[in-house]
Amino acid sequence: MTIELEIVQDWRVFATDHSLAGVALSGDDTVVSWSDGRETAFHRFFLRDNCPCSQCYLPLTREQLFEVTDAPADLAVHSAAISAAGDLIIGWTDGHASRYAPGWLRAHAPDAQSRAERHAARAQPFIWGREYADALQSFDYGDIMADDGALWTWLSALKSSGLTLIRNVPVEEEALLGPIARISHLRETNFGRVFDVKSKPRADSAAYTSVNLPAHTDLPTRELQPGVQFLHCLQNEATGGESVFVDGFAIGEAMRKHHPGEFATITTTPMAFWNRDDRTDYRWSAPAIALNDEGDLDEVRFANFLRGPIDAPAEKMGDIYAALRLFQAMTRDPKYFIERRLAPGDMWAFDNRRVMHARREFDPQTGSRHLQGAYVDRDEINSRWRVLSRQLGEPC
Ligand SMILES: [Fe+2]
Repeated sequence: MTIELEIVQDWRVFATDHSLAGVALSGDDTVVSWSDGRETAFHRFFLRDNCPCSQCYLPLTREQLFEVTDAPADLAVHSAAISAAGDLIIGWTDGHASRYAPGWLRAHAPDAQSRAERHAARAQPFIWGREYADALQSFDYGDIMADDGALWTWLSALKSSGLTLIRNVPVEEEALLGPIARISHLRETNFGRVFDVKSKPRADSAAYTSVNLPAHTDLPTRELQPGVQFLHCLQNEATGGESVFVDGFAIGEAMRKHHPGEFATITTTPMAFWNRDDRTDYRWSAPAIALNDEGDLDEVRFANFLRGPIDAPAEKMGDIYAALRLFQAMTRDPKYFIERRLAPGDMWAFDNRRVMHARREFDPQTGSRHLQGAYVDRDEINSRWRVLSRQLGEPC
């Protein structure tokens, strides 16, 4: 065993605030004690699975080659030590050897305290209601197009609040593609790469009429709803047609706090969403509010005009409708509304899997109204933000 064992470096940089103070073996675990007194037990298979040597990781792609099932079932740690450089050195009973940097070990430590710290350190969404209207962040098109720092700041705000306004976008068709190209690529749908929001004589969606559209997410009919929606105003001369935004997470958290029974129902009952015309037939069923593994709000999915009949046991219908009626009533409560009238050159960018949008009825006889929209999936926003964070030395 030698301390020159190589480590295939991750793309990330790990904090080096804590060093290894000691190491001991206990059953299946290698127990590390840290400079701040914390102890972490690493299971033998966890360590073996994550060996960062170039036999186990392909240096070119930094992707794992080793499959843990190839290790013998009785694989054990033969020796554990801390090197002069402060790394953990493991010798295995099958002759393999591994080296782990303390920053990596601490960043992935499975003890309860470390896991709770990581959960707490994860960026929490900034949840808003009507009071946020005056503080709503707007960003300059020119800055976003020219400067990576401005791009990162905008994307950070979009990830946090789910609603941002971009100003001074050229009043030209497809100008919204500029900021999208700064991120990555867009999500094409059956409504086109870029969709035009104006009233059409033969509308295939309520969006293409002039009627009032209640608060909704777009395309809840898809297994994966589009992540971020861009809406760029080219013309807005008609009376009415104001944009209204509702933070679905604010409603979710208010339900969790004040109506736990309805919250449990709305987060577990699949709702059916359909969008059909003579050429397409999209359907998906999922709860209106989805939680992640840790119980955090993950997604809002709702458009009443796309809902199909609820498929649930007869005896649950009463509870389900109580929860649905409450949720819908909350989406109409002005205390959650941010309402704006867009001017040509304004562009919304909002998280379509969180922020519901509504449109006031407009009168097409009073003037033209033309918005262009496009979607970009959350994955593209997150990936671009992480790479920018790396470049700017920000944690990600
Ligand atoms: Fe919409």
